Amino acid sequence: MVHFKDPFEKMERENERRQHMRKALIAGNWKMNKVLTEAIEYALALKERVSEVPEVEVLICAPFPFLNPLSKVFENSPIKVGAQDLYWEPKGAYTGSVSAQMLESVGCSYVIVGHSERRHVFGDTSEDVNKKTKSALGAYLTPIVCVGEKLEERESGHTDNVLRNQMTQSLADLTKEEMLKCVMAYEPVWAIGTGRTATPHQANETQLFIRNLLKEMFDKDLAEQTRILYGGSVKPDNVYDLMSEPNLDGVLVGGASLSVESFEKLVKYSEAGEEESSDTVANQDGE
Ligand code: PGA
Repeated sequence: MVHFKDPFEKMERENERRQHMRKALIAGNWKMNKVLTEAIEYALALKERVSEVPEVEVLICAPFPFLNPLSKVFENSPIKVGAQDLYWEPKGAYTGSVSAQMLESVGCSYVIVGHSERRHVFGDTSEDVNKKTKSALGAYLTPIVCVGEKLEERESGHTDNVLRNQMTQSLADLTKEEMLKCVMAYEPVWAIGTGRTATPHQANETQLFIRNLLKEMFDKDLAEQTRILYGGSVKPDNVYDLMSEPNLDGVLVGGASLSVESFEKLVKYSEAGEEESSDTVANQDGE
C-alpha cells in the first residue's frame, strides 16, 4: 500500500475537496443481487452502523424492487437511495421499463446512467446515456454518469479518445446548471469485478483528464465543483489510498458493497488513514 508519509497531506486534500464543495460520495452498487429480506436486513444494519458519518455522503444503488422499501428504512437517516438505470420516456407503452418520475416517486435521489454493464451487456450507447441523463435531471434525480475504457483500448493508447467521445456524447447539450447537478464516475471496464484495480496514480491521472475535459466543455468553475467517482474493484484495503488522490471524490463499489461489514469500512475509509497516521507518528517518535 502506498500510504502518504505525511499525516497532514490527506487533510490538505480533504480541505481542497471541501473548498470546491466536493463532499465525498461513497456509493454501493448492488447490481442484480439480494432478495427483499436480505436487502432489508442489510439496510437496517447499515443504518445502525453509519448513522453519523458527516464528512461523506452514503448511497446505496439497489435493484428496482428494493428502492421503496429501502427508502423507508433509510428515512430519517443520512443514507440515500439510488437506482442503477432508467428509461428516458416519462411514461407509456414501454414494457419492462422504469422512468425517472417513477424513481423519484419511490424515494430515489440518484440514478446510475451508462454503467459499463449497461453499455456492454445491454447495448446502451452514449446517445442513450445522454437521454437518460436529461430525463433524470428533469425528475430532480442526480445522475451518476459513468465512462470508462476497455482493456484493449487502454493498452492500445486510446483511453483519452474513448473518454472524450463518451463524455461529449453522454453530456451533449447539457447546460452548466444541469451539469452542476451531475456526478461523473470513471469506471475502467478492465477493473470492474475483476479484482484488478487501477492504481491510485492511474485513477487520479485519468480523472484529472476527465476534469480537464469538463473544463474544456463547460468551464473551470464547473470542473472544480464536479465530483468524479472511481469504480472498479474498490475494497476496504485499497479505498484509503484511492481516496487520498486529489481527483477522486468518492467511489462506486460493486462486489465490496454487498456485505454490510465491508461497506461500513468503505464509508469509514478515513479511519484506516487515521490509524496509519498515528502509526507513522508513533514510528517517527520512536526513531
Ligand atoms: P466492482 O464493480 O466494485 O465489483 O468492481 C464496480 C462497479 O461496477 O460499479
